[in-house]
Amino acid sequence: MNISFDINGRRCEVDVDPLDRLLDVLRRDLGLTGTKEGCGEGECGACTVLVDGDPVNACLVPVAQIAGRAVVTVEGVAADGVLADVQRALIDHGAAQCGICTPGIVLCAIAALDREPGASRARIRELLAGNLCRCTGYQRIVDAVADAQARRRGR
Ligand code: FES
Ligand code: FES
Repeated sequence: MNISFDINGRRCEVDVDPLDRLLDVLRRDLGLTGTKEGCGEGECGACTVLVDGDPVNACLVPVAQIAGRAVVTVEGVAADGVLADVQRALIDHGAAQCGICTPGIVLCAIAALDREPGASRARIRELLAGNLCRCTGYQRIVDAVADAQARRRGR
């Protein structure tokens, strides 16, 4: 079945089983391997992408559900080679080790800061609670996202 949707600002059409997971279509059919699989069960957030601006677990979404919608993956957040503010801050704070969790955290954090520009540190932690990291712990990640928020607000 042909399904079309926007991916990182461009329209694409894929010929897939409508029940294929969005995660597999991204990685297998579109070659967008930045989106990672952790648990495959909606528990870890590694596969988070934005669908019409909302963070979703791509391992739980049948691709048919995104027909006509707009998906953003980690490949779509840097503009003209310039990293997104959250990506820059994660690097500056040394907030990644293996990096499997990082793409999901980047997208979740971008959505969180866009929606709640005044989020407290505790709220940032809450908004990222669906994204598990087995390596780094959360202190540096929260520090990084809070720093990106401060940079957006001009400190
Ligand atoms: S791989 Fe999708 S939530 Fe873990
Ligand atoms: S850096 Fe490895 S899971 Fe987060």
